[in-house]
Amino acid sequence: KRIVIMISGRGSNMAALIEASDDRAFPAEIVGVVSDKADARGLQLATSKGIPTRVVARGDFASKDAHDAAIDKELAAFGAEIVCLAGYMRLLTPGFVAKWQGKMINIHPALLPSFKGLDTHQRALDAGMRIHGCTVHFVTPEMDDGPIIAQSAVPVLIGDDEKTLSARVLKAEHHLFPLALRMVCEGKASMQDGKTAFSDIE
Ligand code: GRF
Repeated sequence: KRIVIMISGRGSNMAALIEASDDRAFPAEIVGVVSDKADARGLQLATSKGIPTRVVARGDFASKDAHDAAIDKELAAFGAEIVCLAGYMRLLTPGFVAKWQGKMINIHPALLPSFKGLDTHQRALDAGMRIHGCTVHFVTPEMDDGPIIAQSAVPVLIGDDEKTLSARVLKAEHHLFPLALRMVCEGKASMQDGKTAFSDIE
């Protein structure tokens, strides 16, 4: 399958997906990276791995719809079959999401449906959680709300702060995202009637 990754920043999850896809047995090829930020650090990383990048900045468009239409054009030009949101920090328009329904997945740094939105690690600490983690889910118009494909849990340790906890979760993210992408590419996880359908999982 041809994968395009969308980012806004650091790109460590993007890097984990690229690394996984370097394995010839992995059922996905990363064919491009799209960023809404010209200074996203992940862009250089992608370039250094030989992956073509495109910047589609919100400021260059009059509306959110026009912005997403321009992104969609880039996805089409790349021949994208599946889109991975890897730290893409902007809510996508319903029309765009509808078009990619079942073919666009996102990673979120919390065990959904808890802690949607930003600042998840501090909020998990503030709530006194003893377990935290990350989720990969199909993207629906509501933020961090689509059907769950896979999750990974990590302990919250005594003395953790935002930095130590986020580092532990990030490590789990880098394992989880390739695993979830593989499930989607192989048709083992698909979106049906608003839910994730699993098939052929040992
Ligand atoms: C990750 O924690 C991801 O779950 C969240 O944004 C962060 C992106 O980090 N959506 P990176 O750009 O992949 O390093």
